[in-house]
Amino acid sequence: MADMVEIFEMGPRDGLQNERRLIPTAQKIALVDLLSKAGFRRIEVTSFVSPKWVPQMADAAEVLAGIARAPGVRYAALTPNLKGYEGARAARADEVAIFASASEGFSRANLNCSIAESLDRFAPVAEAARADGIPMRGYVSVVTDCPFDGPTPPAAVARVASALVDLGCYEISLGDTIGQGTPDTIRAMLEAVLAELPAARLAGHYHDTTGRALDNVEASLDLGIRVFDAAVGGLGGCPYAPGAAGNVATEAVAARLADLGFDTGLDRAILAEAAAMARAMRG
Ligand code: HMG
Ligand code: MG
Repeated sequence: MADMVEIFEMGPRDGLQNERRLIPTAQKIALVDLLSKAGFRRIEVTSFVSPKWVPQMADAAEVLAGIARAPGVRYAALTPNLKGYEGARAARADEVAIFASASEGFSRANLNCSIAESLDRFAPVAEAARADGIPMRGYVSVVTDCPFDGPTPPAAVARVASALVDLGCYEISLGDTIGQGTPDTIRAMLEAVLAELPAARLAGHYHDTTGRALDNVEASLDLGIRVFDAAVGGLGGCPYAPGAAGNVATEAVAARLADLGFDTGLDRAILAEAAAMARAMRG
């Protein structure tokens, strides 16, 4: 039997958050419902962030209320602070995610605070998620390059990843937020993180700005990573990362993984349909 690799679908959140045109809630729900049929085990649906910061995600509760939940699929939401966590819990998110940065410049731009302050702010979220039995994932952004601070030292990524695990994250997603990573810088970063955490606790989250994301996925597979974040249609970008392009496209990752002999359990025809739907939402 082929080795399993899981793709965590990001399209409805990371894919759409950067779109300037406000996408109708019903269209977001339709995308999630189609994705629910594709075989994903986890779909990031939305984020409970300040609507002043990311207006596109202001309908987070409505989207979660409107989707048809498929059995065996976990519907996730980003939660930057306790207010976001409370919104996500009320909307019955199956899991939440906290998100930190490996650089001070990006932390300030994305969360309006230092790395240390962000970790302090996540502590009550972690405590509440633990008490409620809601799984919590963690992101580390700008793992190889930061648009404000330049190249990111691998040791900084390892430090923040470990801090997120100490807070209770079951998995750490390593974000090449602006898609400037190369197989060499991704490998160096992963080796530093793997000195602290096992591969089974890590995921690769690569944006495809320079067309190297699939090569970066392959470099990560070589080091034992078996979970990758991707967005159907290759949508996306972070509003607080100048130059950030879309996530690597789910359908492209699924195709490359199949070529390499890995099984994703995904229905490629439904993925193609979802990719077309996602692309049509783009302004
Ligand atoms: P702030 O302005 O410092 O916070 O923002 P504040 O506490 O002063 O609050 C400002 C206003 O927002 C207040 O409203 C709060 O009530 C409200 P006002 O009193 O002015 O009317 N507010 C909220 N509303 C709804 N939900 C909330 C919430 N929190 C405060 N949770 C804050 C700090 C963290 C809130 C802000 O910086 C923020 O929302 N940042 C999120 C930015 C974001 O979503 N970025 C994109 C996601 S991260 C990403 O894409 C990277 C990733 O994909 C991995 C990778 O690629 O690297 C994950
Ligand atoms: Mg991202």
